Amino acid sequence: MSLSQGSHAIVVHGGAGGKPEYKDGCERAAQRAVEELGISGDALEAAIAAVTVLEDDGRFNAGRGSVLCLDGETVEMDASVMDTRGRLGAVACVRGIENPVLLARAVADTPHWFLAGDGADRFAAAIRHPLWNTISEHQREQHRQVREALAGTAPAMPGVDNQAFLRFWNYRSAPDLPPGAACDTVGAVVRAPDGHFGVAASTGGSAPSLLGRVGDTPIVGSGFYAGPAGAVAATGIGEYIVRHLLAHRVYTWIEDGMPLEQALRRGIELFDKDVDVGLIAVSRTEAGAFSNRDMPRARIGN
Ligand code: GLY
Repeated sequence: MSLSQGSHAIVVHGGAGGKPEYKDGCERAAQRAVEELGISGDALEAAIAAVTVLEDDGRFNAGRGSVLCLDGETVEMDASVMDTRGRLGAVACVRGIENPVLLARAVADTPHWFLAGDGADRFAAAIRHPLWNTISEHQREQHRQVREALAGTAPAMPGVDNQAFLRFWNYRSAPDLPPGAACDTVGAVVRAPDGHFGVAASTGGSAPSLLGRVGDTPIVGSGFYAGPAGAVAATGIGEYIVRHLLAHRVYTWIEDGMPLEQALRRGIELFDKDVDVGLIAVSRTEAGAFSNRDMPRARIGN
């Protein structure tokens, strides 16, 4: 691939359905990506730096802010990275890991691209990845709100019958299910001045969900994609996003020359209005974000 020196662009999001007042966290993350570009000049390292800030923030559904499973104790997290230098890594259902996005980055240096569950946790131990097992008051409060909402009167996910959850629920006791699902993600896409693209994403998954549930965030082409024409990250309810291979589909529209904003809108329009979904992307000449819900975000550069 021949690349020419140009301008950088960074877009960061804090999740479709996330609180707009958390925008300051996205702005700090984007600023951290700029700093990393100044140090390494590497699009992927910059995207990872941004996502690490959001994982450490504690307010977003990723890293320290990840939603608790309905047992009120278990956190399972997914993360992914990809760039135009051929680096690709992901982890799913990891527990007690301080920064899942850094673990995904480490997987990209192994012979594999994707590690899940106990094997991913063992890999983390083997490379001495820092652990984080503290449950914050913010996480407990979010969990209390989910428990309070356990009315059992509305589907936990749009179009899904709660009886299906109840039949297969893999906790000790069956729950009443809440009327809505918390399912945001954090992500960052970067165009470096050298023309390379990088994407990183991280999530605590959805609430409620079965143990072992994996959404779109660690699935290449669904939650994230990077190629010579740009980088795309998705956020929202993974069960719907994967059915559209959303990130890759939007990427191909951008690659075919569709204006970036039009590609993002068209991606969101694939979904029913009651499904939370959002997108961010950078191309060779543009950068943007679009969501059918509030979505805290920040952008630096065009
Ligand atoms: N988009 C995050 C998830 O579905 O897990």
